[in-house]
Amino acid sequence: MQISFEEEQQVFHLYNDKISYVIQVEKQRYLKHCYYGKRIKRWHSGIKDYYYDRGFCANPIAEDRTFSLDTQLREFPESGQGDFRSPAYELEDRNGDKNARFFYNGYRILSGKIAPDGLPHVYTDADTEAMTLEITLQDKVRNQRILLYYTIYEDAVVTRFAKWINDGTEPIEICRFLSMNMDLPTQEYDVLTLSGAHTEEKNVYRRPLCADSVTIESSRGTSSPQATPFIGLLSPGTTEEQGEVLGVNLIYSGNFYGCVQCGQYGTTRVQLGINPFQFCWNLKPKEQFDTPEAVLVYSQEGLGGMSAIFHRLYRKRVCRGKFRDQERPVLLNSWEGMYFALSEEKLLGLADEAVKAGIELLVMDDGWFRGRNSDTTSLGDWVEDKEKFPNGIQDLAKKVREKGLEFGIWFEPEMISYESELYKQHSDWVIKSHCYSPIQSRNQLVLDLSNPKVCEYLTEAISEILKDGNITYVKWDMNRHLTDLGSTFLDRESQGELSHRYVLGLYSILEQLTESFPDVLFEGCSSGGGRFDAGMLYYMPQTWTSDNTDAVCRLKIQHGTSLLFPSISMGAHVSAVPNHQVGRTTSLETRYLVAAAGNLGYELDLKKLSQGELEQIKKQIVQYKRLRRTVQFGEYYRLADPFTENQAAWNFVSEDGKQVIFSHVQILARSAYRIPTLRLRGLDPKAEYKNTETKEVFGGDELMYAGITIPRVRQDFSGTMIVFEKI
Ligand code: DGJ
Repeated sequence: MQISFEEEQQVFHLYNDKISYVIQVEKQRYLKHCYYGKRIKRWHSGIKDYYYDRGFCANPIAEDRTFSLDTQLREFPESGQGDFRSPAYELEDRNGDKNARFFYNGYRILSGKIAPDGLPHVYTDADTEAMTLEITLQDKVRNQRILLYYTIYEDAVVTRFAKWINDGTEPIEICRFLSMNMDLPTQEYDVLTLSGAHTEEKNVYRRPLCADSVTIESSRGTSSPQATPFIGLLSPGTTEEQGEVLGVNLIYSGNFYGCVQCGQYGTTRVQLGINPFQFCWNLKPKEQFDTPEAVLVYSQEGLGGMSAIFHRLYRKRVCRGKFRDQERPVLLNSWEGMYFALSEEKLLGLADEAVKAGIELLVMDDGWFRGRNSDTTSLGDWVEDKEKFPNGIQDLAKKVREKGLEFGIWFEPEMISYESELYKQHSDWVIKSHCYSPIQSRNQLVLDLSNPKVCEYLTEAISEILKDGNITYVKWDMNRHLTDLGSTFLDRESQGELSHRYVLGLYSILEQLTESFPDVLFEGCSSGGGRFDAGMLYYMPQTWTSDNTDAVCRLKIQHGTSLLFPSISMGAHVSAVPNHQVGRTTSLETRYLVAAAGNLGYELDLKKLSQGELEQIKKQIVQYKRLRRTVQFGEYYRLADPFTENQAAWNFVSEDGKQVIFSHVQILARSAYRIPTLRLRGLDPKAEYKNTETKEVFGGDELMYAGITIPRVRQDFSGTMIVFEKI
């Protein structure tokens, strides 16, 4: 990869074998976005700006009526200076003046990566993996600087973030400061977003762009199940395999805002960053503020190509720690099987069954701590309930481990119940308005993580439980969103910083815990996939994908999640039927097949199953252990779309290309229908592949170009899994 600066034309060119990103300095002041796409040799300003004197256009250079910021393709636009589209930043000074003029003021080209301070990001292991361009914009009147960082890697990825530095003598209020802005010269796009709700996360929505805007946002304090900080711009007609895609995703777990906005003159603006809603950062003299990092992926090979790039990047350069490269354990989680009714005896009984089934990790979910018999009490009191666990949980963990299983535990650290010892001692530690009593959600309140004392308490309480080393897995849950924004810790001027400081506090706790306990596998969760974002993956290499464990609903949820996130990051469990969320009954085979597309787990009371079912589960786990290297580290291909079709299908190809797993689910049975034929992807067309069950041999070319037919099954929700071996 390289970054060049061409003096005469004032052009920055970031490029590698696959992509080019081009920026130009215009009128010695403004940053113009020229190009982001397939690699070009150099930039000759082929796309000429159409300068002429247009109506209602402000002219920042008085003598030139043909030049207006509103007609330009901008890289980081201000507000109030004649570009009437959505701005990337906004300030307010002591006089209430919101106008700002930041002009170009130099650059540096650096080898390696510059990362935003205290925030998760794409990391590098060596400086040779990346190059960074730093561009300085300056407001000389107020003595403020904005530094824009662009990092290019070997893959088709550019990451961006911005830093604000107050060089002045007065504090400045930052009211808006996005991570990226890019103006594109056409409006020929479909816009793709991932929206949803609790138990319906990451639905895929695609619509053609036309005048006006598409905005996505969260003001819930977390990235949320309702929206994902992701925007896809697709050339019309883009499919899984073909077409140009620009995918922008934010590595951040808090409030975000993103928009795709049509300009008056045929341009498209795309933006992503912290949500300006209720955000106001009071930047004191000599202080700096960094935005979260945005990841910009370019694919010429459709949505599948985009996902492959995100998967590689997130798996290898966002996820960290020893589990990044380790096969993940098959787990049994107590939640849907027992809910709050936990006890030492029951868990040891479950452990016996789990060992027989081949499970590797027993996870004790909610209900283990003092007085926690329902979701109305006890959050914050992270000590075991002696009635349920008379010998303590360390003892339980040891006993479980002696049986040959790892032991894991559930926490919801960011929360506090009214009815808790913690609340009695520290009622001022919660997020609340100073006028009203706080609104509850699930009978709980949110701890004020902007307060370092609260962060310290949580780090210590959790460390206390983990320090003996008997517990090797933590499920980190978060089950309500932020309301009544107010902090007794922050001063009046800093109240607008609370949401972001909450996220920074959370990240600092996670940084400390993951550093202190490198042998503990952390799994993120927020009522399922409510905070399934790249920010959390930096600390926790896997996330519980959804509280909805129904195999049919999961087809859509996992399909949507897979647009950005690799299978190894997705927790997927087989649960009991009728399903607890939707009441549907599906076969154990189909439930397994769907869960086996992620990190396989079981979440049901094994003691309530028949001998036949237990035998089946045992076989499933034997098979999954043979396949999981491919599922967790191989390439993943979506073959059918459950949002638009009566089926879902996918295939994995192992890293060495030798193993192929093909899975298909027919959603509703039909009496007269075309027998589905699915074409596999990612195979070697010249090679031969053997169906490991029937021993039939197929050419890779036939499997990919002609496809395979799915046997007709007269039953709803039937699943087919075929494992091929390359001969
Ligand atoms: C919500 C999670 O998503 C569930 O899996 C479970 O852990 C419950 N919370 C426990 O309260």
